[in-house]
Amino acid sequence: MNTKHCCLTKIYNFSAGHRLFLDRLSEKENSEVFGKCSNPRGHGHDYYLEVRVKGEINNDTGMVVDLKELDLIVDKVISELDHKRLDIEVDYFIKNQSTGENIVRFFWGKLKDNIQNINLVYLKLWETENNYFEYFEEKDIKYAN
Ligand code: NI
Repeated sequence: MNTKHCCLTKIYNFSAGHRLFLDRLSEKENSEVFGKCSNPRGHGHDYYLEVRVKGEINNDTGMVVDLKELDLIVDKVISELDHKRLDIEVDYFIKNQSTGENIVRFFWGKLKDNIQNINLVYLKLWETENNYFEYFEEKDIKYAN
């Protein structure tokens, strides 16, 4: 039997600073690999995170997810990054480059660990108005844009 699902997408935002930099490379090489994101004094982004969840519509509430619960979980993860210099202050990004790819993967891991009864489908992280990064499991690919 085909189960019907409804998807909800909520958009969150946060701001953070970073610098992309590999110790083993020279300043010039880093600049070639990472472009402006390797500016030695760092720089910031206003990130937007789209969180898509799915579920069956609850007969009583008419909703697929308790939004207060979702907000609580997402806001908690965001607070680990918001207004931080990622590559200096956040352990995960001291060890991993603070690229959009790694930031969206960071969110996926943290959210998956914390939302047992909410079915996370898809994350989209906007780094600038011209580029974004998506993260989802292959089985859910049909739910992605
Ligand atoms: Ni950047």
